[in-house]
Amino acid sequence: MMTSSDAVFAHAHLLGIAPLSPGDVTAILDLADAYAGKNRAGQRLKVLDGLLLANLFLENSTRTRLSFEIAAKRLGAEVVNLSAGGSSVQKGEELLDTLKTVGAMRPDIAVLRAGENGAAQKAADTLGCPVINGGDGTNEHPTQALLDALTLRRHFGRLKGLTVAICGDVKHSRVAHSNKLLLEKIGARVVLVAPPELGLPGSLADMAAGIADADAVMMLRIQKERLASALSLSEAQYFAAYGLTPEKLAHAKKDAVVLHPGPMNRGIEIDSAVADDPARSLIAMQVEMGVALRMACLDLLTRGCR
Ligand code: NCD
Repeated sequence: MMTSSDAVFAHAHLLGIAPLSPGDVTAILDLADAYAGKNRAGQRLKVLDGLLLANLFLENSTRTRLSFEIAAKRLGAEVVNLSAGGSSVQKGEELLDTLKTVGAMRPDIAVLRAGENGAAQKAADTLGCPVINGGDGTNEHPTQALLDALTLRRHFGRLKGLTVAICGDVKHSRVAHSNKLLLEKIGARVVLVAPPELGLPGSLADMAAGIADADAVMMLRIQKERLASALSLSEAQYFAAYGLTPEKLAHAKKDAVVLHPGPMNRGIEIDSAVADDPARSLIAMQVEMGVALRMACLDLLTRGCR
């Protein structure tokens, strides 16, 4: 019998959700499930023994950068980190030149986060090793969507048939884009909720109507750094209309759960009474699953070079 540890992953890179088949998604989530227990038990594994991860974060990050580093180290890899601050990116070096430089140092696998849409594809074309997209501009953040799916699958025991409302700045959020692709691929229903200026075609402007019937409500930060012009709503107006409070959450299903990829802006898109409610909030579980999910991705993508 084939087990998740024998799973074959027919992709050289993980740049986005679109190329993944539903079977690929299941294989990643099954392997991540197995790694969740090992990570919680603090096991040090040798799966990536002798390999080196280049963790390239040209945009700020807490969860994604740290969880890739922890995941790689749990699997026995060595990790080097590059961030924009302190690198030659601040001296005006172009992304492609930075990538050529890193590639010449021959890492075994790389994670890239950058502000430019398509940056991860550029890295895959340049580095000469498997590349994982750690978030490229407004485009995609595939490991976030996969860890969100893992969190939901562990909570509900299934993904198919769930209704997930994704609320906030859906226009500029790579998390929203990757989640919509992934959830619809595996048979969940996605409702997008946003003020018109932050919406996408088909998104709903009314939050109460948008989250009615939701099994899960995923809140998003306003991507201020990606807005072309200032939001017309003040923070107080935004919170009144779109901030997730216990009163608004009451419009969703009775036992609906709440997700947020972080970083949270409390009092803008989410109220502390919701974010810190252990009965409803899966936010800490998302972070824990982030490590396990990234262990699975690092394992699957290095099978060809070990
Ligand atoms: C998100 C990102 O960077 O896209 N954060 C994350 O990776 N957990 C969301 C955000 O920055 O708002």
